[in-house]
Amino acid sequence: MACVSEPLVLGIETSCDETGVGIVRGHTLLADAVASSVDEHARFGGVVPEVASRAHLEAMVPTIERACETAGIALHDVDAVAVTNGPGLAGALLVGVAAAKALNHLASHVAVDQLEHGPLPEPCVAMLVSGGHSSLLRVTDVTGQDGGVDPMGQTIDDAAGEAFDKVARLLGLPFPGGPYIDKAAREGDSVFIDFPRGLTSRRDLERHRFDFSFSGLKTAVARWVEAKERAGEPVPVKDVAASFQEAVCDVLVRKALDAASSEGIEDLLIGGGVAANSRLRFLAEERAEKLGIRVRVPRPGLCTDNGAMVAALGAEMVARGRTPSSLDLPADSSLPVTDVLAG
Ligand code: KG4
Ligand code: ZN
Repeated sequence: MACVSEPLVLGIETSCDETGVGIVRGHTLLADAVASSVDEHARFGGVVPEVASRAHLEAMVPTIERACETAGIALHDVDAVAVTNGPGLAGALLVGVAAAKALNHLASHVAVDQLEHGPLPEPCVAMLVSGGHSSLLRVTDVTGQDGGVDPMGQTIDDAAGEAFDKVARLLGLPFPGGPYIDKAAREGDSVFIDFPRGLTSRRDLERHRFDFSFSGLKTAVARWVEAKERAGEPVPVKDVAASFQEAVCDVLVRKALDAASSEGIEDLLIGGGVAANSRLRFLAEERAEKLGIRVRVPRPGLCTDNGAMVAALGAEMVARGRTPSSLDLPADSSLPVTDVLAG
């Protein structure tokens, strides 16, 4: 981890009957969210360990969510996570440690869906589309056990969200560009410009059937906009946004459904910030239905980075009896999605 003078740290405390999540920057407290299970113990006249563990599991998700909200931060802003590892109730501690350490950001984007739609269908194909990643994964166990998260393909250049952000900038829209393009595109013509669909030619499909490429598309949009400007004509922002968005969503959905079909898998899960895109959601549903494939996408607020998704994965780890990683767990900015539980 780079040296940070005022590190943003998220702390988790679950040693007894209180689920505490605090966020500090340097020495300044930004949030202190607590959920207590004291009322549930009252009728037993003392703290019951099993009751405490279950209460922590249930409270972890909303408490992390509330702390991030109060602090006004997103999860990827956090420099370090600290957790109480003892002394305390063994089961209760385990919930906190697993939640703190099961921090694989990418697997979290997949695991979050179960907060809304119940247990993850396994096997499923998960398409992870965020600002830093675009991957197709074959998921047989979201906790990563025994190769349970198996990459089928990924972007060979820009991530899908990155393409949205770069094209938005080109069109003079604010950052992050995804939501603004989504909005502008609603009033635009998606067949106005026939932008290229990366890695879909027959030759590309031989080597990159489940891989993505968005940098050629971004360049095509830039050239198109430049030509307009050079000609002194106004840029039809809404039509460019809609045509660009169509090119991205078309390829994402096509490849995701191809991946599911090729594996005989009937469930497609879409996660990551770009999964909030309204056209992507619509197109996935529409095309999947024709193939008898079910699509699950978390509600938009759970697609972009959030604390709840990390806790959701942590809770799943505990529920499946996975051992937390060792205490010298290092921060790893390029942790592969297959290593759900590092160290
Ligand atoms: O998962 P996320 O919140 O952060 C990363 O892990 O990268 O994803 C952020 C990305 C940004 O590139 C943003 O532009 C994109 O998700 N995004 C969207 C939409 N909402 C967020 N892209 C397209 N349409 C949206 N509605
Ligand atoms: Zn993310």
